[in-house]
Amino acid sequence: MFNLYYHTFNKQILYKFMNILLMGYMGSGKSTLGKNLSLKFKRDFIDLDHYIEQKENKKVYQIFQEKGDLYFRNIEREHLSDILSKNSKIILSLGGGTPCYNNNIELINSKHNLSFYLKNSNIELTKRLFNQRSSRPLISGISSKEGLLEYVSKHLFEREIFYSAASYTIKCDNKSVAEISEEVFSILM
Ligand code: S3P
Repeated sequence: MFNLYYHTFNKQILYKFMNILLMGYMGSGKSTLGKNLSLKFKRDFIDLDHYIEQKENKKVYQIFQEKGDLYFRNIEREHLSDILSKNSKIILSLGGGTPCYNNNIELINSKHNLSFYLKNSNIELTKRLFNQRSSRPLISGISSKEGLLEYVSKHLFEREIFYSAASYTIKCDNKSVAEISEEVFSILM
């Protein structure tokens, strides 16, 4: 999404005062890139899922199991607001579903933040996610690669409208973390 506030001013100066938010489907590399950018830009890094786990003293999959998805989406919203109100100039990686619930996309695209959508193909995401299914509540019940590909394809299609509202989209297939990080850097500099 075109961030008018950002583009109206000198971006080289302005981005220095803004948070950098990373969004994308599960397995798109948000946390890995976030850590890399945190070193590159010398900024604090927060991973929203990790933050929720620390605050709630439970793993995300346990929260889903014990309290259900609606409960998770509500606390996800609360912790997102909390992080954004207490911090500035951070790198924040969001959960895969964060932009898609509770109007979070408005908060994400507020004038203090620049957001990046890490776009990966269904096939690449399926490859990465297949062996990590057990710790991911939304896909833990899927047993075959074909089933997972079907799920990811439909789900990503539904979510794409939220992801594409990011300030910038980066195509990540066949790129290393260093290359993606360099791309973010060149957009901002
Ligand atoms: C979710 C993605 C997860 C986590 C939760 C729900 C989703 O985060 O927030 O399991 O709805 O896509 P990651 O994208 O960091 O795995």
